[in-house]
Formats: sequence, structure tokens, C-alpha cells
Amino acid sequence: MAAERILGIESSCDETAAAVVADGRRILSSVVASQLETHGQYGGVVPELASREHLRAIVPVVRAALEQAGAAYRDLAAIAVTEGPGLAGSLLVGITYAKALCAVTGLPLIAVNHLEGHIHAVQLEAAAALEFPVLALVVSGGHTHLFEVHEGFGYRLLGKTRDDAAGEAYDKVAKLLGYPYPGGPVIDRLSQFGDPRAVRFTSPKMKGNALDFSFSGLKTAVLRWVEARGMDEEIAARRRLHGASLEELRAATPRATLDLLASFQAKVIGELVRRVQASAGEIGARSIVIAGGVACNAGLREAAARLAGPPVWFPTAALSTDNAAMIAAAAYPKLLRREFADSTLAAKASLALA
Ligand code: KG4
Ligand code: ZN
Repeated sequence: MAAERILGIESSCDETAAAVVADGRRILSSVVASQLETHGQYGGVVPELASREHLRAIVPVVRAALEQAGAAYRDLAAIAVTEGPGLAGSLLVGITYAKALCAVTGLPLIAVNHLEGHIHAVQLEAAAALEFPVLALVVSGGHTHLFEVHEGFGYRLLGKTRDDAAGEAYDKVAKLLGYPYPGGPVIDRLSQFGDPRAVRFTSPKMKGNALDFSFSGLKTAVLRWVEARGMDEEIAARRRLHGASLEELRAATPRATLDLLASFQAKVIGELVRRVQASAGEIGARSIVIAGGVACNAGLREAAARLAGPPVWFPTAALSTDNAAMIAAAAYPKLLRREFADSTLAAKASLALA
């Protein structure tokens, strides 16, 4: 049987992405247009600018994905698009374009939840062999969710953040210390030069679901630490370093701040890994998936590799952050079930997976 090719489109946040994936596993092309330069100067994603950038990028990005895959519309089985969660205006661009393409080509439309996409990214790794039930941690700038995943990709929510997402905590702490956006990669790399035991952060007291997360207290603790030390000049000096290399940022970071970053990172990783281990045990997981932008974190990868228990699968860095190949991959089981959306599909800023 000929391969079933799906064109995936993703525009939920600040990347405009399109990809062609065969049989939910083989990437024929994956194009990501990042808006980092636009948002970087504001220290975070500006929703109005994001939708405008998506409008500009969507047509060339989709065309490039088809060209690189050597595919025409008649070679496709379906078009998949992120339905939510995400920024409403950003989602709308991808959905509207996907609907228009389906109307013109007669191809079926498949709606995909962004979180389901992140979980499926690992299916695009040749080595990945998931055994169910899977414990999935989706950890990004917008989400920190633990799911139990069953055979055939059914989901049960086990826990989630009650305030900031882990990536959001990274981005906010970086911003407050004068580092560029996004903060995750910078803190991750600078952490390697600091002592993770130097600053003691307490764990939040969680009432109710012990598998829920909370990161806003940690962010506030970092703020208090900074205020207590009067670091205004140090921080202002770093803010002036526009487009600095990691070496330059490191040179502008005193030992005590490197220790703070390492301690912050160790705390975040500890909170994540502790709940991954507890929930994997609770559901009798036979494999673990860690996905989303924060899954790029070197410290998290090391800590997860040391976990006793079932094998842990991480997508490669490019498939951990937002992309459209993961959306096309998540659409494949829906194609097999002929689970199609229609022209009434709307953007859903908050869309639960389970
Ligand atoms: O999945 P993603 O591209 O977009 C969302 O759906 O949010 O994730 C982006 C997030 C940002 O918060 C970024 O700071 C974080 O992932 N991130 C990291 C690392 N690389 C990206 N956080 C910690 N360590 C990293 N190495
Ligand atoms: Zn994402």
C-alpha cells in the first residue's frame, strides 16, 4: 500500500510550521519559521505581532514543506492542523488556511490538539518503540501536564501546573535577571557553571492532587533572592548585551548568579522528575515520554536517564519544540479512524486533551 502522507500545519504560538509525514512516522519535510527575532526584543511573545507574522509566513512555509517533500496536493491523504490550545489569533491563521486548502483540494481536514502533537513527536524518532501504558510529561512554555496514555492514544490527565508552566518559569526568571528570551536554553547552559546546591529552594506545599505542579512560588523566591542582593547594576549590564553569545553572557554573570541559576534549574528538574517517577509507578507505565520545549533541557535529560523504571523517550531537540511534523504524526491515527473535522472547525485557545 502506498504511504499515507499528511500535511501538518502548526501556528498555535510563535512558530509558523508545516510538514509532510508519511504513515505518522517518517518525516518527508519539516519547515519551521520562528518569530524569535520579532518577540525577542519584547522579552516574550506579543500575541498581536504573532498573528501578523503567521499571516506573512503561512503560505511560503506550507509551499516549502510540500516542495521539500516532493509532494503535490494529490499525493496527500489529509491536511492536519492544530485546533488548540494556544493563542486564538495565531491558531486562527493556521486553521483558516487549512480549511481553505481542504475546500479547494477536496482533502479531508484533521484537527489535532497541540499537546497530543507534542506526545506524538517521539513517534518520529526511528528508535522509539512505545509500550503502553505510557506516562507522558508535556513540558513547555505553555504547559506542564502529566498524562496516562493508553494503546490507541487515549489520554487520562494525572496532574498539571496550577500556575506557571515550567518553561514560563524559566522565561520569567531569565527576564528578571536580564537574560534574553527564551530563557530556558540560556539558563540550561549557564547552569552547568554553577553549584546546584548553593541556594536552597523549598518545595511548594500542595493540597489535593500530589501530581499537580506549581512554579510561581519558585519564581517569587528567585525575585526575593535578587532583591535582597541589590543586583540592579549587574542585571542592567546584561540587558545592554543585545544578541550576546553564551560566552559573553557567562562573562557577565558572577559566580553567585551562576549558582542561583544552577539551583533554580535543579529545583525545576527535581519537581518534574519526582512526579514523573511517582506517576509512572502509580499507573504501571511501561514507557515514559518527555516532550515539549523544556524536554530540550540537558539537566532534565540526564536526570531522566538515571531514573529506575521503564525506558524514557525524548524527541530530539528540533522535535521537542513546536513543529508541524508532530501535528501530522498525531493526525495519523485519526486518519485511520476517519476522524475528520469540517468547515466549522474553530480555534480553541483552551482545549483540554483529557
Ligand atoms: O514547546 P515550545 O517550543 O512552545 C510551547 O508550546 O510553549 O516550548 C518553548 C519553551 C520556552 O519556555 C523555552 O524557554 C523552553 O521551552 N525551553 C527550555 C529549553 N529549551 C527551550 N527550557 C529549559 N531548558 C531548555 N534547554
Ligand atoms: Zn508547544
